[in-house]
Amino acid sequence: MDHFHYQDGVLHAEAVPLPRIADAVGTPVYVYSRATLTRHARVFRDALSIVPSARIAFAVKSNPNLAVLKVLAAEGYGADVVSGGELERALAAGMAPDGVVFSGVGKTDAEMTRALEAGIGQFNLESLEEGLELAEIARGLGRTAACALRVNPDVDAGTHGKISTGKAENKFGVPFDRAAAIYARLCAEPGLAMRGLALHIGSQLSRLDPLEAAFTKVGGLMREIRKSGYAVTHMDLGGGVGVPYKAGEVFPQPADYAAMVARVTADWGVTLMFEPGRVITGNTGVLVTRVIRVKEGAVHPWVVIDAAMNDLARPALYDAWHDFAAVAPNGQRITANIVGPICESSDTFAMARDIDDVTRGDLAVFRTAGAYGATMANTYNSRAMVPEVMVDGDRWAVVADRIAPATILAAERVPDFLV
Ligand code: LLP
Repeated sequence: MDHFHYQDGVLHAEAVPLPRIADAVGTPVYVYSRATLTRHARVFRDALSIVPSARIAFAVKSNPNLAVLKVLAAEGYGADVVSGGELERALAAGMAPDGVVFSGVGKTDAEMTRALEAGIGQFNLESLEEGLELAEIARGLGRTAACALRVNPDVDAGTHGKISTGKAENKFGVPFDRAAAIYARLCAEPGLAMRGLALHIGSQLSRLDPLEAAFTKVGGLMREIRKSGYAVTHMDLGGGVGVPYKAGEVFPQPADYAAMVARVTADWGVTLMFEPGRVITGNTGVLVTRVIRVKEGAVHPWVVIDAAMNDLARPALYDAWHDFAAVAPNGQRITANIVGPICESSDTFAMARDIDDVTRGDLAVFRTAGAYGATMANTYNSRAMVPEVMVDGDRWAVVADRIAPATILAAERVPDFLV
């Protein structure tokens, strides 16, 4: 469910016609719907109200825009951050420091120091080495770091290989059979307060059974650790719940996910923590683009648009599908290839796709672009950094400026030895 709909033949974000934004801001531009964001945040949160104690830390990486984080902070969300930059954003958005979880395999000393000083709620440790380093920093600051140990459950998430994180060959977490010993070792470390386990097996999961298998496995480990006399009060179940990218696809709903979690964890007696990203922000945004021209092709026409792989990287990186729709469809359909202007063949959004008939100057959107869209944008081919807009009813505002190539050029220097 989202709030992008046609009214009088023109696609609107809530009550704002998309051409109004495109004309004012230019294209390409990401447009987010506040109502959609709020709705997804509430549906997920309400679904989890069936478990006795749940804390939700939004995976900032999926959409770190400050306005997006503000909306989620107001809905009571904490933040799952993976860098000092994400930590500062979460704090700037007004998220409570103790609702912040710091994940990631490569936390630097500087990042851990800053996070300790800010008083974040939990570090998800990815290794024994990291735990020992954090303990030393915490002792130096006279603080204690609340920690979970991220375990690699060696479960196949059944998703794209590049966004799979829970197999033994992936870099994430500690090996399952070493986890109990590492947990015990870290419990002996002054400066750390070990309180639980964490896992995250991958993103864009279309089924719940890999999650259930992983939760069950890590639940067994929790029992083993408790039997050895160590406390486990928090279990962080990560994110990963997928969303449909193609009209008509059926995906597990937050209520199905919550029911499975409640069943598997019924006797755990812990505070459960969650790190959803895509399921909150995916449907919240579209990428609005304008057709530059339609070029004749050997088999199908090439619809050349002004958005490219630098603006929306997912198709090039993961062969991802994003539905494409004209903003003001003329009722005709064509079979075409959709490509951006960048000079490499991976700048292809779709091949031989049945789409709305579009022609030079027409506006169109890629749907479900609110997660891992703008945040993965770059300026390859010296293109601008794509801007972002948020709509709220009949109001809208630019929430991230377009950064012009000239601004990026101005940050570059020619060294003395070249002149
Ligand atoms: N927690 C951790 C530790 C993660 O690594 C991730 C995502 C999440 C939570 C949130 O996962 P979600 O609920 O969004 O599936 N750029 C890729 C997705 C990369 C996901 C990385 N980690 C894409 O565009 O599909």
